[in-house]
Amino acid sequence: MDDLRAKYIEAIAAAGDEATIEEVRLAAVGKKGEISLKMRELGKMTPEERQVAGPALNALKDEINAALAAKKAALADAALDARLKAEWLDVTLPVRPQRQGSIHPISQVTEEVTAIFADMGFSVAEGPQIESDWYNFDALNIPGHHPARAEMDTFYTHRAEGDYRPPHVLRTHTSPVQIRHMEKHGAPCRIIAPGRVYRSDYDQTHTPMFHQIEGLAIDKDISMANLKWVLEQFAAAFFEVDEVEVRFRASHFPFTEPSAEIDFRCSWVDGQLKLGEGDDWLEAGGSGMVHPKVLENAGIDSTQWQGFAFGLGIDRLAMLKYGIPDLRAFFDADLRWLRHYGFSALDVPTLHGGLSR
Ligand code: PHE
Repeated sequence: MDDLRAKYIEAIAAAGDEATIEEVRLAAVGKKGEISLKMRELGKMTPEERQVAGPALNALKDEINAALAAKKAALADAALDARLKAEWLDVTLPVRPQRQGSIHPISQVTEEVTAIFADMGFSVAEGPQIESDWYNFDALNIPGHHPARAEMDTFYTHRAEGDYRPPHVLRTHTSPVQIRHMEKHGAPCRIIAPGRVYRSDYDQTHTPMFHQIEGLAIDKDISMANLKWVLEQFAAAFFEVDEVEVRFRASHFPFTEPSAEIDFRCSWVDGQLKLGEGDDWLEAGGSGMVHPKVLENAGIDSTQWQGFAFGLGIDRLAMLKYGIPDLRAFFDADLRWLRHYGFSALDVPTLHGGLSR
């Protein structure tokens, strides 16, 4: 018995992998294992012999089984340790400099604007860039004959000959997202809708594709005062100054009544723009109280609900904040330009962490 114990305990200790452990197990306590065979011999013993040998063999079998299990666990641990060592990876290593891309100013500013409005409780809504003329125009109270259609220099899609349905358009503004959102989610609502828009126009400050951010807030008692406060909060946060005065200039949009052009107080000193001080005004976009017809077109009861909408130019905000002179360069995909004006891919703009650095 002692020889058996010594033999197998030694074999178990010497085993270096699971396959060897299994061999030892079969040899010792498997069906035809040495200890199992010895246990079968118990039947041939005298009752006195059996009383001694039985418990001793059982104890030996338990001991061997326990040693096997312990060794198995130790081998598994060692295997895991080896694997962890082999597959170790320092995820905190900095990005390889030659691989470092940069974030385009448009993406950066979109993230910044989104962070600011998210903080004021606005969520982000989206709509298609190829839009029906209902959403882009009619639902927004811009009828077929309205000069706004011509003013917008719209890109129309081609229709097959004999197909007299109105053509789709490349959306000329983000305002159609107002309709789509209200139609789907009803009132109250508080959203912004950043995205691409298209107009046939090209010079230093116009490109045929550019970016807007739409804002929409509908509730029971929302007024122009709320609009002004929201825009002031936005401008101060975006330009990273304490305060920016907002001025409304009377204007006209078919989808708002009253309508106002948005100006931010600023100064230009030696070509340097400063927000929130001075005697100049920066044109930032259009706004107003959502026209009752627009609410009704989106299935909202205009006797119950009211609210404001605004539209800001993202590209223009980016040019002003980061001193980028020519809009066309935004879309030239010139790597030198991107390296100069781009932002680190790992610095996500947040209000608490800082918008830009
Ligand atoms: N959609 C208008 C434009 O593109 C801007 C705007 C949006 C005006 C919302 C009022 C309200 O010029």
